[in-house]
Amino acid sequence: LVTMRILGLETTCDETAAAVVSCDGEGRGHILANEVLSQIAEHAAYGGVVPEIAARAHVESLDLLVARALARAGLDLSDMDGIAAAAGPGLIGGVIVGLTAAKALALVAGKPFIAVNHLEGHALTARLTDSVAFPYLLLLASGGHTQLVCVRGVGDYIRLGTTIDDAIGEAFDKTAKMLGLPYPGGPEVEKEALRGDPERFNLPRPMLRRDVPDFSLSGLKTAVRLEAERIAPLSATDVADLCASFQAAVVDVIVDRSRVALRAFHAAAGNPTALVVAGGVAANQMIRAALQRFAAEAGLRLVTPPPALCTDNAAMIAWAGLERLRLDLTDDLTAPARARWPL
Ligand code: KG4
Ligand code: ZN
Repeated sequence: LVTMRILGLETTCDETAAAVVSCDGEGRGHILANEVLSQIAEHAAYGGVVPEIAARAHVESLDLLVARALARAGLDLSDMDGIAAAAGPGLIGGVIVGLTAAKALALVAGKPFIAVNHLEGHALTARLTDSVAFPYLLLLASGGHTQLVCVRGVGDYIRLGTTIDDAIGEAFDKTAKMLGLPYPGGPEVEKEALRGDPERFNLPRPMLRRDVPDFSLSGLKTAVRLEAERIAPLSATDVADLCASFQAAVVDVIVDRSRVALRAFHAAAGNPTALVVAGGVAANQMIRAALQRFAAEAGLRLVTPPPALCTDNAAMIAWAGLERLRLDLTDDLTAPARARWPL
């Protein structure tokens, strides 16, 4: 195997990010720089990401982040073996910003260009951090996506299950908003849940035991709203108990869906080498602990990349670009920006 270095850009949502990632002669990945600028402050007043504000913020800070990433890595554009950008799925204005910048850099520097699927970035991160071998079972849970995937190889995915309505992170965010907690809601709900009673409210566990590992979360969210309306005005204890009860329901659903997905995985691809959890929701300690118990029961290694690599970042885009470049899977400069792009 040859050593390689890639510059990666990520602009599909509300994080502007640039990173430099390398692989050594053994194929192991190394993060040489991983710069992220969150726009949370710019969107907080609106309780969610405003696409137009996001796109403008990406334009304003992306070149600075690229310069910073290269400086931190102690490298120059000419040292790169390729330039990668997330070409979707995501908010189209932001995607266009990152994609156009990466194409321009590739053209100027005369380097290969790689259009990366943002979801593939999340899916392959465990190979950067833990050298996980194919095939593995992936739970990808973020603000925009909820999928259980059989990862057989680079570009070779079987989607076993997905959500038929809200993403898990989105359910956390909407629940938080309903209860008057700030955006993004996941960490806030988790914090409240720590001092709440998970058994006070008997909330539904949608899809439990269904034999296709899909998710449905909007009914759970509605159940929280109805309980909140029933007992309003809410005390601090009420909010904490609602958060704890909501989180307990989500945990039950995630473990049940993962168990069903593992059965489907066996049928499709034999034994996985690991259960990998990625996406912003993987930062949740309760969810991690429950999946750890499930993985141990199933005799599987649980791999959860560190939180900074679970939420949106450019190291995962650079790494996915590197994995593709290694296989000569490069793209030409006409590669389109895609708002929707299933794995
Ligand atoms: O992967 P990510 O950074 O961005 C997307 O691609 O969506 O995920 C962000 C999502 C948000 O919905 C956020 O509320 C959720 O991940 N999240 C959490 C936690 N930290 C972030 N959800 C539950 N518990 C957490 N600790
Ligand atoms: Zn993401």
